[in-house]
Amino acid sequence: METIQQTVRIELHYAVHFTRQVFEVRNTVLRDVIAASGGARRAIFIVDEGVCAPERQFLQQLESYSHAHSDVITNVASPIVVPGGEAVKNGREYVDLVRSAVNAHGICRHSFVVAVGGGAVLDMAGYAAATSHRGVRLIRLPSTVLAQTTAKEYRMKREARRSQERRSQEERRRKSKQERKDELRRTKPARRGRVHFGTGNTALNQASPSRERATLQAPLGS
Ligand SMILES: NC(=O)c1ccc[n+]([C@@H]2O[C@H](COP(=O)([O-])OP(=O)(O)OC[C@H]3O[C@@H](n4cnc5c(N)ncnc54)[C@H](O)[C@@H]3O)[C@@H](O)[C@H]2O)c1
Repeated sequence: METIQQTVRIELHYAVHFTRQVFEVRNTVLRDVIAASGGARRAIFIVDEGVCAPERQFLQQLESYSHAHSDVITNVASPIVVPGGEAVKNGREYVDLVRSAVNAHGICRHSFVVAVGGGAVLDMAGYAAATSHRGVRLIRLPSTVLAQTTAKEYRMKREARRSQERRSQEERRRKSKQERKDELRRTKPARRGRVHFGTGNTALNQASPSRERATLQAPLGS
């Protein structure tokens, strides 16, 4: 029986935004990201316990933010607070919790799961969002250095790619300049011929001073 090999290539793109104090009402980064998807959107927030512990006002601030931007963000439930660290992704308990909330609050493919926390919470929430319906949109707000580094790596890779493109462009420009020079050099012998011909004229010119002298002398002689 004949066997053929098929290839599936998947290229995924996502935007990475850099900001501080994302839930300050004046900060419109999150609002703008959601608004860019086309109007008011339902959203459910999953928050790492480790984020709330040192910042007691955090949940209140989050609620105030979504209230202030309610024309764009429809916060459908109180934030779901989950434990941080490996514990959150060691079993299916929290994945099931998020998926149940997605179903219960009518989070559809046009809505958002917004996860705030360390890498473990983002992984868990991402898995839950990806396996709810046919995949619910996810916004990740990394709150640890490692989780933020992943985003920064993306930026560093992008910058490396751009500078590589710039170098390639520079190289192409340099090559085409060199090719033009080579082309000129190839056609130069013909020009030299003309110059050579000019040298002959120069010989004529060299004769001219005496001719000039002769001409000048003529009136004197007459
Ligand atoms: N998907 C990815 O791109 C990706 C990238 C790197 C790591 N990971 C995964 O992430 C996990 C490690 O992530 P991590 O280093 O972010 O740690 P983590 O998610 O394990 O969190 C470590 C601890 O920090 C707490 N915490 C989180 N934010 C905090 C904050 N702002 N202030 C105080 N405490 C806070 C958490 O509650 C937890 O107790 C691993 O499971 C790794 O596999 C995933």
